[in-house]
Amino acid sequence: MKKVTKAIIPAAGLGTRMLPISHAVPKEALPIVDLPAISYLVREAVESGITDILIVTGRDKDAIEDFFDYSPEYDAALLGKGRTKEVDRLHELADMANLYFIRQKTAKGLGHAVGRARSFVGDEPFAVLYGDDLVFSKTPVCRQMIDAYEKYGRAVVGVKPVTPEQLSKYCSLKVEPIAGSENAYFCDDMIEKPKKGQEYSNLSILGRVLLEPSIFDVIEQLEPGAGGEIQLTDAMAEVARTRGVTALEFEGTRYDLGSKLGWMMANVTRAAEHEEIGEEFRAFLKDFCEKLK
Ligand code: UTP
Repeated sequence: MKKVTKAIIPAAGLGTRMLPISHAVPKEALPIVDLPAISYLVREAVESGITDILIVTGRDKDAIEDFFDYSPEYDAALLGKGRTKEVDRLHELADMANLYFIRQKTAKGLGHAVGRARSFVGDEPFAVLYGDDLVFSKTPVCRQMIDAYEKYGRAVVGVKPVTPEQLSKYCSLKVEPIAGSENAYFCDDMIEKPKKGQEYSNLSILGRVLLEPSIFDVIEQLEPGAGGEIQLTDAMAEVARTRGVTALEFEGTRYDLGSKLGWMMANVTRAAEHEEIGEEFRAFLKDFCEKLK
C-alpha cells in the first residue's frame, strides 16, 4: 500500500453563504482569531504526515497564496525592532509544507475542483480537506483518516451524525457497522442532498475524505448533479457501489466556516483557549453570558 503524502484543499467556491464579506475576502482566508482558516487545514495535514498540498483556488482568492509567502517588508520592520520570534513564526507558517496552487476557472462544484488535481496526485492515494471545514480534535482528523485507510485498505470518508435539516443539505450514507470497530462502517452507497424519504442514515460526510486516484476517471464521466454542480459525492457514491468505502466517525468538533454561525463558533472556541488573549477573553465571555440571562 502506498503511503499517503499528498492532500488537496479545494478553496475555489464562491462562498455565497458568507456574503457580503466573501465578496472581498475568500472565506477560506477569513481569520480564526489571528490565523487564516486555511492555515489550520494545512497544519492539520502536515501534522498527519502530509508533505505536499495542492490548494485549488479561483479568481479573487490571491489572499490565500499570499499568506504562505515570505514578506520582506514585515521581516525588515520586525527585525528592526528585534522581534525575531515573530519573523520566525511567519516563516514557519510559510514553510509548513510544499504548497502548490491551481485555479479552478469556473466554480463548477467540489467534484470538478478535485478533478483539477489529477496530474498533481499521479497514482497515489490522497486526502481531501474541504477548505471551509475546520475540525478541532485531539488527533488530527486527517491522521485518523490515514490510519483507517491503512487499516481497511479502501477509500475513507469522514462522517458524523447530523440533524435532518443538515442531512438534506449535505449527504446521507448507506452503512453497516464493521465488526470489532466502534466508529468505522462499511458504506456501499450514498446520496447527495437527499429529498425526504431518500435518506439512508443520519451519517453525513463532513469535510474530510481520503481517495484513490481511480476516482478521477469517475469524476471525468460525471454529469452535473444536485444544484447543477459536479458533485464529489456522486463520484464517491460510484466508488462505494463498486468497491465500498470506509465511513469513519472521526473524533473532534467540526465547524462549518462556510456559514456565519460556524465561523463565529470556531472563533469563540479558539479565542477562549488562545495563548495571548484566552484568559481575558474567557473573563469577557463569562461577564457577557451573565448579562444574557
Ligand atoms: P461549499 O459547497 O461549502 O462551497 O464547498 P461554496 O460553493 O463556496 O458555498 P456556498 O454555498 O456558495 O456558500 C466546500 C469547499 O469546496 C470548495 C469551496 O471553496 C469550499 O472550501 N469548492 C466548492 C471549490 O473549490 N469549487 C467549487 O466549485 C465548489
